Amino acid sequence: MSLFDKLDHNRLPVHIAIIMDGNGRWAKARGLERGEGHKEGVVAIKKVVEAASKASIQYLTLYAFSTENWSRPAEEVEGLMHLMVYAITRETTDLKRNGVRIMCIGDLDRLPEYVHTTLDECIRETAGGTRLTLVIALSYSSRWELAEATKKITGAVTRGILQEKDINEETIGNYLTTRDLPDPDLLIRTGGERRISNFLLWQCAYTEFYFTDTFWPDFGEKELYDAVLYYQGRERRYGKISEQIEFEQ
Ligand code: IPE
Ligand code: IPE
Ligand code: MG
Repeated sequence: MSLFDKLDHNRLPVHIAIIMDGNGRWAKARGLERGEGHKEGVVAIKKVVEAASKASIQYLTLYAFSTENWSRPAEEVEGLMHLMVYAITRETTDLKRNGVRIMCIGDLDRLPEYVHTTLDECIRETAGGTRLTLVIALSYSSRWELAEATKKITGAVTRGILQEKDINEETIGNYLTTRDLPDPDLLIRTGGERRISNFLLWQCAYTEFYFTDTFWPDFGEKELYDAVLYYQGRERRYGKISEQIEFEQ
């Protein structure tokens, strides 16, 4: 029985988010430059997007570049930007053909103009995709996002569009960059670290976490389905007790 057949297709995570970590160490272990790890990371992205689509996952969010990653050596940052543009340009036609819609979240104004242009083009081209929404978190950090949301909310209160008494959890969610997305059901982090590195702090309130030592370039279909199987073994209680959950099912 293949791993794919082992999945319970009635209990799939709707939204999977991934912290793709370990490209640099993957390269170092092979005596290669870090950039080679990032290149191989793009190959892994393609495999995982295909596997997610095959398993009818509706939303896949990939943490591609964090706000904190701007502090890396300029050469690495530039290499990552060029790689992104190259990969997106090359893949847009296939993504469109496969019904994949691209979205971006993050402080995109910080991106160089040529990256912006390429992303906008890809977002426009793939806007009609209905099979899988692929969200790329770029120049993203959760604290940045929450600070931005706070500014927008206070602005709306000042302008009288929003009353302070009406602010609730839903309001905050509506001012985040993820307003059109369901919260992730499953968060995967590759590369061995067990931390969240400023990713979707608000949205992961009840997300199941899966950590693996596998470096991102070695992550593919099998590894994704292993993570989904782990997820399917969890009982999501949302503060209740087990007996209540069983009763509700
Ligand atoms: C993740 O791999 C990719 C990005 C953060 C852009 P890393 O580059 O962090 O790889 P390691 O953690 O150094 O191995
Ligand atoms: C997290 O990886 C960010 C991305 C995968 C884009 P990092 O490698 O930057 O995280 P830290 O610095 O180890 O927490
Ligand atoms: Mg890392």
